[in-house]
Amino acid sequence: MLGSILVLNDRGGVGKTLLSHHLLSTAMLEGLALRVVEYEVNERLARLFGPETVEHRRISQDFVNLMGSGGDGFFEFWDNIGPELQRGGRLFDFGGNISQWFFNWAEVSGFDYYVGDGSRLVFMVPVTVDLASLQTGMATLERIAAIAPGAKRVLVENGFSGSFSQLEDTHYARRKAEMVERENVAVITMPACTAPAWARLTGHRLDQIATMTREDLVKLGMSPPVASRSLIVIHDWLRSIRQQLTPYLTDVFRSTPTGATARPGKGSRQAVV
Ligand SMILES: Nc1ncnc2c1ncn2[C@@H]1O[C@H](COP(=O)(O)OP(=O)(O)OP(=O)(O)O)[C@@H](O)[C@H]1O
Ligand SMILES: [Mg+2]
Repeated sequence: MLGSILVLNDRGGVGKTLLSHHLLSTAMLEGLALRVVEYEVNERLARLFGPETVEHRRISQDFVNLMGSGGDGFFEFWDNIGPELQRGGRLFDFGGNISQWFFNWAEVSGFDYYVGDGSRLVFMVPVTVDLASLQTGMATLERIAAIAPGAKRVLVENGFSGSFSQLEDTHYARRKAEMVERENVAVITMPACTAPAWARLTGHRLDQIATMTREDLVKLGMSPPVASRSLIVIHDWLRSIRQQLTPYLTDVFRSTPTGATARPGKGSRQAVV
């Protein structure tokens, strides 16, 4: 039975879409089929990978109004996600502050009707060293445990805006240690990509970047020495992230005959599909 991965943290710019991109390109290398659902204001992954692989669900002003209203439309919208999670085989990139609404729905809607205790779900929460992202990230990990106690929770430390070593002996570090030791939270690291060519490659697919040669980078306007240096850094970076992501992907997306089955919900509100 296939599971799903959800990438979420309502702080913007923490690397949710980049992490989803790594997950998708690593899955492709592993020969795993998965469908990505991208909630964004503008399509990012859908533009790169096409609508067969990535479905873009636009976060428009009308959509934000609908979420804020908390009425029937809100529940209708989220009730459609339940069966998707039940079927599995999907990766959700929850951009645009959408996870707060997801939790509001899951907390009152018999979430376990669809996913049982959540043991086929993996929640990945990227954070950067910025205080707001750490706060929303830790609060997100706590909310996940409340709606899906059996789900795997993964804290992704993204070194993009500074090193996590500077946070030793802070409230964040203490809470993280507690979560790792007592609550089975896993931690993975996504280092900043420091390749000089990275800025020019952001419109490219990571699975294609992985196979680029020095000549390809030179054609994109880099000098041969910069191209060579960039390739070394990028390959190292891709390898280290892939090694950490592969076990989660194979666990969730490689079909197994057994697994959690959904059972009737205990929530106050039953599924309305
Ligand atoms: N580790 C990293 N190395 C290099 N660039 C990074 C890294 N993490 C993030 N970035 C860059 O920072 C920018 C913001 O990242 P991204 O779009 O993935 O954030 P997000 O959490 O999806 O944002 P939003 O909430 O707006 O959807 C992107 O240009 C991304 O390529
Ligand atoms: Mg995003």
